[in-house]
Formats: sequence, structure tokens, C-alpha cells
Amino acid sequence: MEHDGGRATIASLRRYLEELRETGVDGLPFATEALRTAAVSESGEVLATACSTVIPSTPLPVVPEAGAAPDPVSETLDAIRNELGECQRCQLGASRTSLVYGVGSPRARLVFVGEAPGRDEDLRGEPFVGEAGQLLTKIIQAMGYARDEVYICNVLKCRPPGNRNPHPEEIEQCAPFMLRQVKAIGPVVVVALGTFAAQTLLGSKEPISKLRGRFHDYHGIPLMPTFHPSFLLRNPAMKREVWEDMKQVMKKLGKDVPSIKE
Ligand code: URA
Repeated sequence: MEHDGGRATIASLRRYLEELRETGVDGLPFATEALRTAAVSESGEVLATACSTVIPSTPLPVVPEAGAAPDPVSETLDAIRNELGECQRCQLGASRTSLVYGVGSPRARLVFVGEAPGRDEDLRGEPFVGEAGQLLTKIIQAMGYARDEVYICNVLKCRPPGNRNPHPEEIEQCAPFMLRQVKAIGPVVVVALGTFAAQTLLGSKEPISKLRGRFHDYHGIPLMPTFHPSFLLRNPAMKREVWEDMKQVMKKLGKDVPSIKE
């Protein structure tokens, strides 16, 4: 395990507790004072708070020794990428130039999920680098982040030829990897960009105009759907709505909300 002041341990613990909560566990039997003290001394406030508020009087999970079986809730983005390999799980593998995995911080508090790579992304191997991507970068910066402080990915990792809509079997193969990426990061908020991402992540058929503007639950993580930057390029007046959505996201993240847009 890398020596990063206990951040990896905290992230691992947080994912473990969230996974337990998702599976219906709302408490664990006891905690020793020694474990609480260790948590405080290694990782400070955050872990101490996790101990006292999430699972009062509970033991910390055992961090696996090197060589132990891998913990599925603490997998890394690199491990998921390795598992994808030169993916040919669906027909898009045959026509792509690059598999566009995702970019940004593995510890991002904010994750953006789009639809699928376009032509520019397919050529560069990075999500949201074309015109829509440049607008997304501006939105991210207006929120007070650098692009590499957040994480950006898509539901699909490969470009559908001619930018056609993704097919159900392509979504079925690819979306689970995106969910695993999100879980590996453990962000505070996910933003779904556009109809396709919002409907896929939420399992909804509602239009984006109905879904946006409020938080939804995505595997225990607050998810804000908003309009896709490509849509904003065609309908610049709708930037106002996106900014309203992003203000809610900033509040959730505890960030100061700038009073002007750009
Ligand atoms: N549109 C998307 O949804 N994703 C990209 O990466 C680029 C454009």
C-alpha cells in the first residue's frame, strides 16, 4: 500500500462502510479504544468521525495484508482498466481507435459522466476533449476546480460509429465498468451529462428536462443530472439552467458559490 498519510486507508474504509450499508448492515458489534486511537493517529479527524458517527462502538474493518484475497470494494482505477484490457466485449471494440477510459483524480470528490467518446475523444483517447469538452472544462473551472481535480468518464468507453446512439447490449457490457470506476473513486457527487447518461445511471425513461435540477440517488451517491455540453453549444440560453444545477452541486461539496457565471 502506498504511504499517503492514510488517505488510501480512509478511502478503503469509507467504501467498505458504504458497501455494508448498501447491503443492509447498519451497525457492527463493538470497537476497541485501541482501534479508535489508531484511527485518529493515522488519519486524523475524518476517520475518527467515521468511527463515531457511522458505526458507533464498532470495530474497524481489517485492511488486507499483502497477498490476501483482493477486496472487491477497494479495487483501484488501474485494476479496472487492466481488466478491460483491449476490450472486445461488444462490437464497438472493432471500430474504435482508442478505448477512452477516464481522466482526472482517482480521489475526486466530483465525477462527471457523459455518454460516449466522440471523434476527437476516440482519436485522443481522452473523454471530453472536443468542443463540448472545452465547454465542460469551462464549467468545471467556473465551479472552482481544475480539470484534473475532478474525474471525467463516459457510460461507454468506445465511440459508436458515426456517433449513433449506443445499443442496449453495448450499454449492458460497458456500464458496469463505469459504476466500478465511480465506486473506486468514492466521490461526494456524480453529475450525469445529458439524457443518455442520466437515464442510464438512474434507470429512468424521464427526459433530462424533468430529471435535472434535483439530486437523485446513485448507489448511495447524490447524482445531479444536467444538460449535456453539446446541447449547450446548440442552446446557449440553457447554460443558465446548468449553472443552477452546478450551484447545487457546489453547495453539496461545501464549495463557495461564485456570484457570477463566467
Ligand atoms: N460527449 C460525450 O458524451 N462524451 C465525450 O467524451 C465527448 C462528447
